Parts: sequence; C-alpha cells; structure tokens
Amino acid sequence: MKKIAIMTTGGDCSGLNTVIQRIVRGATLRGWQVWGILDGTDGLSTTPPSVIRLDEGVIPIENARLAGSFLHNGHAGALNFETAAEEGSLKDFNKKIQQSLRSLKFDALILVGGNGSLSLAWAHRDIYADLQLICIPKTIDLDIPMTDRTIGFNTAVQQLTSFCDQLMLTARSHHRWFVVQTMGRDCGQLALNAGVAIGAGAILIPEIKFDVDALVRHIQQAPTDYGIILVSEGISLRGHSGRPADMISRKLTAAGIVNRTAFPEHTQRSGDTTADDRILSARMADCALNAIENNETYVMTAINDCVCKTVSLADFYAAGDAAHDPNIPDLCTSSAYVSPDDPLLGVAHDMGIYIGETK
Ligand code: F6P
Repeated sequence: MKKIAIMTTGGDCSGLNTVIQRIVRGATLRGWQVWGILDGTDGLSTTPPSVIRLDEGVIPIENARLAGSFLHNGHAGALNFETAAEEGSLKDFNKKIQQSLRSLKFDALILVGGNGSLSLAWAHRDIYADLQLICIPKTIDLDIPMTDRTIGFNTAVQQLTSFCDQLMLTARSHHRWFVVQTMGRDCGQLALNAGVAIGAGAILIPEIKFDVDALVRHIQQAPTDYGIILVSEGISLRGHSGRPADMISRKLTAAGIVNRTAFPEHTQRSGDTTADDRILSARMADCALNAIENNETYVMTAINDCVCKTVSLADFYAAGDAAHDPNIPDLCTSSAYVSPDDPLLGVAHDMGIYIGETK
C-alpha cells in the first residue's frame, strides 16, 4: 500500500479543494493512504510535522467546490523558503523539511502550487530525493510555463466577469466609466480574458505598451459613454506612481472622461469553483495519481492541446522567462506571459477593444 501526501502552497485559488477531494477519492480507490500537510511548508518545518490523515469523509463531495484550501496555504510571517533565505537559515530550513518528509515515510508528495513553489521545488530538489514529487499547477495568474491551463484561472475570470457585469449597469445609469484593477502580477492573461468576456472598452496589460493619448481618444470615440477599462496590476506609467487604476483614472479625468475606480482584489481568488475548473482539477488529480503509479518523479501535470500529461520539472524550469527572485538569491522563477501572437489579442483588437500599441 502506498502512502501519499498532498500540500497546497502559495496563494490560494478556487479549485484547490476539488483537486484535494479528487486525489483522496482516486487514491482511496487504489487502496492507498492519503495524508494532508497543513499550511504548506509551515507544516513540515514544525516538530512534529503538522499533518492529518485524509479519508473520504474529510472533504464531503458537496464542499469540494468551495474556494480556499482545506489544508491552508501557510501562515503570514511563518518561516518559509523566502523568510529563511532572508535570515540566512535556508540550508537548515531545507534540511528540516527533508527530515520531516523522511520521518513521515511518504512514497509520494503531490505539491499543488504556483510558479514560485514549482521553481523552488526544482531548485531545491534534493529535499524530495526520498519520494516521488508530482506537482499540479494552480494560479489565477496563468503564468506557469509548459501548460495551457492552471487550476483557479477559469474561476478567477468568472469572478472578475461577474464583478464587471454588475459595474456595467451602474456605469450606464451614470454615463461614466469604471477603471477596474485586476490581479495577475506581471501577466495580463486574467485581464485579457475577462476583458474579452465583458466587452471592455480597453484592456491594459504589462506585456503591451500603451499610449495614454490613444487610450483617451479611443474612449472618447467609443459608441457608449460608459463601460469598463480593465487595468492589470502589473502595468506601469512612466513618471507616475501609485495604484495603476488610480494613475489611469487621473489621466481620464484630466481629459474630461467621467470615471470611477474599482478593485475586486481577492474576490478573484474566491467564489464557487466553476465547472471548468472542477473538470480540470479532476483531470490533473487523475494524471498525478497515474504518474505515481508509473513511478514518475519531478514532474508537473499539464494540459497542452487539450491533452493532460506530465512534463518534467526540469523542462518547466528551463522554459518561460526566468526572473531572479530578489528574496531568494539563488532562485530564478520561471514565468509565462501573454505572447504577442496570443489569438485573444487579435480578437480583442477586432472587437474594438483598445489593447495598447500592438502594431
Ligand atoms: O499570484 C496570485 C495573486 O493573487 C496575484 O494575482 C496577486 O498579485 C497576489 O497573489 C496577491 O497576493 P496576496 O494574497 O499576498 O495579497
């Protein structure tokens, strides 16, 4: 009988409970024992490690759709890779995690994380040398290389779409625009997808240069005197500081365009998991369990061309754009961004949405 563990790390998102529940179900059917590590690596850095047995009753099927992680994602201020690196105790921290995993005698660990956690797992892979490490990509940012899909993204797009749908009605009543600031870090996928879904007037993302005068002209010439301008949190405006939505709002006001700002913030990470994310969670859970059966290790589940397969963590780490993490000097985080030939950019442009200076 195999003994496997699940750990959720990084920021939460919808779909985590679905993936946990599906892993427990699939593993139980295989006759395996499943454990949950609480609070990500926090749970492995305590003595004794903070772990719980996961049997089928722990997440009832009707609760699997709920956002957040039943296993939690980590305490603010707890010792983790970043804080340990800051205080110079990263070596000891890594050793502690490895010892905990050894003492728990897991055959495999399923790590559900974002690009930071996955990059760290590969960079510090010795920690997982005694077991099989299978990663599942989750993030609302859709910034993980080597996979077209990540758990949580679809629900985030839906949440943002619903938020903007409501604003659109009050915007119309008052003949004004809303500048909505989206999450996504340095990746514009969330803003781009939700913007196309709602029929935004403009979408500003970090990957594409924009011109404020062109934006103003576009909004002034729009067929309506109301609507939504989506601004990704990762954009910058030379010579200006503050929240990106505020910067853009001020420019619009200066040009006589009546507007307000709105910040959906962490509601993008919450909300009932969409059917699409639940199906993705089930597919990735199944793929991860099959990978354990096939004795794979250091792999990530991935969807490419609609097929769910594992890809190697080495390939994931080498792909995408590597950015140095200022908090963990020996780490490069591997990120994916909206590529200039993303078909959705062309669609947005053809639908009259200002997306910046693409030509
Ligand atoms: O990476 C997910 C994400 O939600 C980003 O889109 C956002 O910038 C960040 O996490 C917010 O982090 P926190 O929960 O620490 O405010």
